[in-house]
Amino acid sequence: MTRHLLAIHDLNTDRLRGLIDEGSRYADQAPTDDTRDQLRGETVAQLFYEPSTRTRCSFELAARRLGADVLNLDLDTASTTKGETVIDTVRTLAAMGVRFFVMRHGDADTVAAVADALPDACHLLNAGAGTSQHPTQALLDMLTLHRAGYNFNALDIGIVGDIAHSRVASSTITALQRLGVPRIRLGGPPAFLPDTAPEGATLCHKLADAVAGADVVMTLRIQRERMPAELAGDVAAYHREWGLTDARIDELAPAARIMHPGPVNRGVEIDDGLADGDRSLILDQVSNGVPARMAALAWLHRGDD
Ligand code: CP
Repeated sequence: MTRHLLAIHDLNTDRLRGLIDEGSRYADQAPTDDTRDQLRGETVAQLFYEPSTRTRCSFELAARRLGADVLNLDLDTASTTKGETVIDTVRTLAAMGVRFFVMRHGDADTVAAVADALPDACHLLNAGAGTSQHPTQALLDMLTLHRAGYNFNALDIGIVGDIAHSRVASSTITALQRLGVPRIRLGGPPAFLPDTAPEGATLCHKLADAVAGADVVMTLRIQRERMPAELAGDVAAYHREWGLTDARIDELAPAARIMHPGPVNRGVEIDDGLADGDRSLILDQVSNGVPARMAALAWLHRGDD
């Protein structure tokens, strides 16, 4: 039985497809009593050691829609400020009956250590760990592609920006591979690309090579908090070479829909017109975060493999 959702690798292809279908059902339905009963009596604790808007709020809405109580730990006033370890904090909450933990942390090893330290009855959902994994973001991205009508077996997607420091990129690329996406191009300046292409993907060194003719273009924020300042480079130069604008997409990939996991740095990786225009799926991604996280919570609660 899978007890935690730490990485997209925890989901085999059938499970990933199952969660996409389940998320899609939640997205289509008004909440029913059955839905609201699924996590009734359970408590979901949220521990965000890094900032978040989308992930934290959508996990909270997802948990409430499944009938759970939600604890949002305020880490500025929690006993971690008095020297308590993260593991002691989660064990303390588990002793109060909390069985679901949603955790974001800058250090992936800490998330793994918490998963190991939790009592057997408890579940940990990784809400973003270092540069390594953000599995529910990948799940909501796949749900968004599915609901936008794309066939994964025929999809051509270009992902541009700071791939190397992005936990979204690593999770989403794996999910795309698992679902059989035949063309995954990754583009960005050398400092933002991995040394070697992940399996099934191609590295591109020019925007045109990364996105020309793509069905979907996903752009990513520069993860300044995860690199030395000098590596982030000059924002204006980045925008000139890699920034997405309506004019560039019109020229290179006129049929493409645009995705971005957020938060968006407008005028850097994407311009307002494109982010807010008809081609944008950015708010669909946000909307799909709630049903995708409902599916993840309900799956762990059921305990089926
Ligand atoms: N995409 C994402 O993880 O956004 P937040 O940092 O706002 O949660």
